[in-house]
Amino acid sequence: MSNRQAADSVMDAVIASGIHYRDSLPMIASENILSPMVRRACNSDLHGRYAEGLPGKRYYQGCDDFDTIEEIGIASAKRVFDCDFANIQSTSGTNSNMGALKALAKPGDRITAVSTADGGHISHARMGAVGLRGLDLVTYPWDVERMEPDVDAAASLIRDTEPSVALFGQSVFLFPTPMEELADAAHEVGATVMYDGAHVLGLIGGGQFQDPLREGADVMTGSSHKTFPGPQGGFVLSDSTDEKLHRRLNSGIFPGVCSSYHLHHVAGKVVALSEFEEFGNQYASDIVSNAKALGSALSSEGFDVLAEERGFTSSHQVVTRHGEIDSGAGREAAATLESAGIVTNMNMLPGDTKALAPSGLRLGTPELTRVGMGPDDMQDVARFFARALIENEDTNSVKADVAEFKGNFQDVQYCFEPGPAYPGLD
Ligand SMILES: Cc1ncc(COP(=O)(O)O)c(C=O)c1O
Repeated sequence: MSNRQAADSVMDAVIASGIHYRDSLPMIASENILSPMVRRACNSDLHGRYAEGLPGKRYYQGCDDFDTIEEIGIASAKRVFDCDFANIQSTSGTNSNMGALKALAKPGDRITAVSTADGGHISHARMGAVGLRGLDLVTYPWDVERMEPDVDAAASLIRDTEPSVALFGQSVFLFPTPMEELADAAHEVGATVMYDGAHVLGLIGGGQFQDPLREGADVMTGSSHKTFPGPQGGFVLSDSTDEKLHRRLNSGIFPGVCSSYHLHHVAGKVVALSEFEEFGNQYASDIVSNAKALGSALSSEGFDVLAEERGFTSSHQVVTRHGEIDSGAGREAAATLESAGIVTNMNMLPGDTKALAPSGLRLGTPELTRVGMGPDDMQDVARFFARALIENEDTNSVKADVAEFKGNFQDVQYCFEPGPAYPGLD
């Protein structure tokens, strides 16, 4: 293949990927789409520029306009998350965690966190940011029924192991973490409480999930592209008034883990913050209503949906079980669904030990909500699941019906200039 053919093939695949998502039901809980204004900011000249430092204190010339952007963004993030400190530079949730852990702990310090098997994120694990910082990880006992840390046992563990950082938050995140008692235990032993809100940041900003910074968290990190509907990036937030902590958190990001911090994405993040201030409460509330409706509709169709007794979910996620532990049934279900035009991800459920052969699926409603679907539409979505997975209908015919259904939901909502959700594909 010539270099030109390689470049053309890449561009063809870029378009094909866009068409795939346009015509399907994108239900990966960590994904979202950009509003037209955010997309314009991300495609701007800022893409090629550099800024290091903070507004007004730069190492490069040419940053005056970007200073305006970052200042507007910091002020907006402080309002959205009702806090005293915001760093909006990090390039992802993982990058935010790396920077925060650099600020909050030294190599060899102890950290407590949710294990990956129970839904914790890889950046909370030895294979990720926790290991990179050389921290000694102890994981919380888990309440499988409630899908949250076992509060009494986790509080005792914190008191016994005396970590420097008590980290909370998960990738499989159905219900708010019971923060107050756990944060009290952590503060008693002098630990800093860190809450990773990567998945639920938009729900928190929209007043729908929990309010970690009021419930004992000293620092909150998160992604800017999951339930918070911006471009890929991250946040580091704190309500502490301790300026030494602010300086440590800022320098954890730059120079800690970033040099350039992707100015085009920061500009998009700032537009997304302004849109969120206007539309975020409604968006967050609609995401959660849709997730609850989806859980209930899937259950009515005969699926084994986790946490039925707690109303299936209080977040943007729904988790389903498709077979025995470690059976790989989740992997098979995800593959069948994709051939029917429904994009999901297999997920380990409590008890599973094989990340590549788990028994469950994790489903999310942020993108379906963003293109205008409501609770009644979740019944149609659940019907497509049942046709593909329970009735074993030919997936090509389900896929054709999914594409027709999705044709009714092609504009991105909850933004200043609603417009095509999947532009540039013709
Ligand atoms: C709890 C948690 N933290 C951090 C991350 C990493 O976020 P990012 O993909 O933005 O690096 C994720 C990703 O899904 C997550 O679930």
